[in-house]
Amino acid sequence: MQHVTTIAELRAVLGRERHQARRIALVPTMGALHEGHLTLVDDARLRADVVVMSLFVNPLQFRPGEDFEKYPRHLEADRARAEARGVDVLFAPTVEEMYRAGGEIRIVAGETASRWEGAARPGHFEGVLTVVAKLFNIVQPDVACFGQKDIQQVTLVRHLIAQLDFPIELAVVPTVREADGLALSSRNVYLNAADRHAALALSRALQAAVTRWEAGERTAATLRDVALAVLAGTSGVVTDYVAVVDGMRMLPVDRAEPGSIIAVAARVGSTRLIDNVLLGRRGA
Ligand code: PAJ
Repeated sequence: MQHVTTIAELRAVLGRERHQARRIALVPTMGALHEGHLTLVDDARLRADVVVMSLFVNPLQFRPGEDFEKYPRHLEADRARAEARGVDVLFAPTVEEMYRAGGEIRIVAGETASRWEGAARPGHFEGVLTVVAKLFNIVQPDVACFGQKDIQQVTLVRHLIAQLDFPIELAVVPTVREADGLALSSRNVYLNAADRHAALALSRALQAAVTRWEAGERTAATLRDVALAVLAGTSGVVTDYVAVVDGMRMLPVDRAEPGSIIAVAARVGSTRLIDNVLLGRRGA
């Protein structure tokens, strides 16, 4: 695995690969790698000849008072994990390198970014889309892999690719969970034992709604209430939202259909967690 820290170096490495007509996949991450990130690498491996992982804790997508400073950073461990999983090129720039040319220009998303995570974290998606657009321009991948875990991010990246005409295929990878259902997240390290237990309410709430969906329930408000009841019944969990939305614009729907999404956000202790399910023809 090559470990590069500058944009110029990465461009030189990838220029040689592209010259040999190799397909390039990009897996953007903020590090603190877990099995979710590594499953994106597996997916990228199947879709391309060269797998590039970016590892960059992007200050632009954190609001003042959020966890930018305390966000877990374990470069050496991440490097070993990435290499063991088959990453070919690890791009881990400093903040100075990434924003060397300035940090004035932003990608501003409209309505899709204003709801849910965007409402809870104003400016967050502006930061995400700006850094993702920069990574797309730096790496120029043929395919980029993102996790369904961050469903609103996926939706916005899909719009970014379509509306700014990036010639990039988007691959969306299903959420990887612990055996007990908890969605893997770099932020799970913030949870103490009691929080960790309470955090299961998110996946249990979604599962309860899916069980109703599988039994034939299609009224979004009912599915939402089922999930809300599970969250409300768990001490230590403060619900931010449960939303039944369409998969294209994250707009609330009245009737759930295959392709609709149930998304949840809740605070467990001082940690804000998100999760979602995509409703299928039979289950989630
Ligand atoms: P980060 O939170 O590190 O996540 C990197 C990628 O891993 C994202 O596409 C995310 O959806 C995916 N991922 C996280 N947990 C997952 C899980 N349990 N199962 C499957 N995939 C999972 O998302 C970001 O970083 C940043 O916003 C980024 C896109 C890198 C821009 O800074």
